[in-house]
Amino acid sequence: MLAGKRILLIIGGGIAAYKALELIRLIQKAGGAVTPVLTRAGAEFVTPLSVGALAQSKVHETLFDLTSEAEMGHIELSRSADLLVVAPATADLMAKMAGGRADDLASTLLLATDKRVLVAPAMNVRMWQHPATQRNLGLLRSDGVLTVGPDEGEMACGEYGPGRMAEPAVIVAAIGAALGGGPLAGKHVVVTSGPTHEPIDPVRYIANRSSGAQGTALAAALRDLGARVTFVTGPAAVPPPGGVDVVRVETAREMAVAVEAALPADAAVMAAAVADWRVANASGQKLKKDGSGRAPALEFAENPDILATVSKGPKRPRLVVGFAAETTDVVAHATAKRVRKGCDWIVANDVSPATGIMGGTENAVVLISEAGAEEWPRMGKDEVARKLAARIAEALR
Ligand code: C5P
Repeated sequence: MLAGKRILLIIGGGIAAYKALELIRLIQKAGGAVTPVLTRAGAEFVTPLSVGALAQSKVHETLFDLTSEAEMGHIELSRSADLLVVAPATADLMAKMAGGRADDLASTLLLATDKRVLVAPAMNVRMWQHPATQRNLGLLRSDGVLTVGPDEGEMACGEYGPGRMAEPAVIVAAIGAALGGGPLAGKHVVVTSGPTHEPIDPVRYIANRSSGAQGTALAAALRDLGARVTFVTGPAAVPPPGGVDVVRVETAREMAVAVEAALPADAAVMAAAVADWRVANASGQKLKKDGSGRAPALEFAENPDILATVSKGPKRPRLVVGFAAETTDVVAHATAKRVRKGCDWIVANDVSPATGIMGGTENAVVLISEAGAEEWPRMGKDEVARKLAARIAEALR
C-alpha cells in the first residue's frame, strides 16, 4: 500500500511514543520507508537507538546538527519525504504548529515543508478538551493538516476520555489515504444515517432518538480509507463529515429514492434509523383542536424497507451491511434479521435506555455475518466506525 513512499515521522514527547515503534514497523511492512525525527521530549520516552535500529535510518534530533546540515539541510529534509507524520502529536507540538513557531528541528521541518502533514494527537483528556488545544486543532485543519484520532478510552494517566493516540494500523491506513492509495481508493460506498421524520401535518412529525453519530463516524472512516462516500442522511443532530457527497432527506420514502439513485456502489452501509411506519393520513394543513376534546386518530402505513430492497435488488452492492438496534435478545433478533433482509452483515447493538448508547458517544456492538456472531468490546463510536471500515476494506479487497 505504501510501496516506494517516504515518510518523515516526527515522534513527539508522550507516553504514546512507544507506539511509534510499532508504527515504523507497520509502515515498512506496507512497503514504505521511514526517516525518523525525535523531539527532545520524544527522546525521553523512546531512545534514538531503538528508533534508528527499527527505521534503519539516521535519527534526526537537533536543528544545529552540523553533520546533518552538511549532508542534508532541514529544508531538504522537510521536502524529500512524500508525507510528514507527527505521532504522537502532543498539545505543545500542535500549539507550535498552529502558531508557526520554528524553535527546534521538528517545528522547523513542519514550517518549511511543502508536503502534506498528518498528525496523530495523543494527550491527557483535559489537555485535549482544553479550548486552546481545540482552537489549535481548528487552525491546523483549516491549514490543510490531516488528523487521525485520538481515540477514546482508558488513558495511561488513569483518566478516561478522548486523548489516546490512534492505533498504529489506523495511522497507516490514514497515511495510505493521505497519499491517495487507501485500501478503499476507487471504491464507492453508500452510507445511510440519522433518523427519518414522518410528517403528521406540515408542522408535526414522528421521529426517533437516533443522533446520526454512528453513521457520520462511519462515513468519515470510510472516506479516510480512500472511498468515495455518498452519505444519505435524515435530519441528524450531528453535522455530516467533510469530504463526502451529502444527500439530505427527511422521510423514509425520500431516503429510499436517494439510495436507489446513488447506486451502483461497491458497498452499502445502512446505519439510518428508518421509521418503520409513516402516517398514512397525514394532513395537508395543521391539525387543530376542534373543542370537542377528541384527539385526531392517526393511521399508519408501512414504509419501504430500504435495506431489504437494496439487498434483494438488481443493483445489489457486493457488500451490504445493516444495523439492528434491539432492546432484547440482541443476537437472536439480529441473526434472524440478517437472513430476512438478505444483507451480508448486521451490526447489532442493545439500545435499552440503561446502556446510554442511543444518542451517546459509545457503542457496544455484535457483528453478525454468515460465520456467526462476533462481540466487540464497548468503545467510542469513532472507534467502532474505524474498525468496521477496516473490515469493509478487507471484504472488498
Ligand atoms: O427492521 P429494522 O428497522 O430493525 O432494521 C434495521 C436495519 O434496516 C438498519 O440497517 C436500517 O437502516 C434498515 N432499515 C431500512 N429501511 C427501513 C427500516 C430499516 O433500510 N424501512
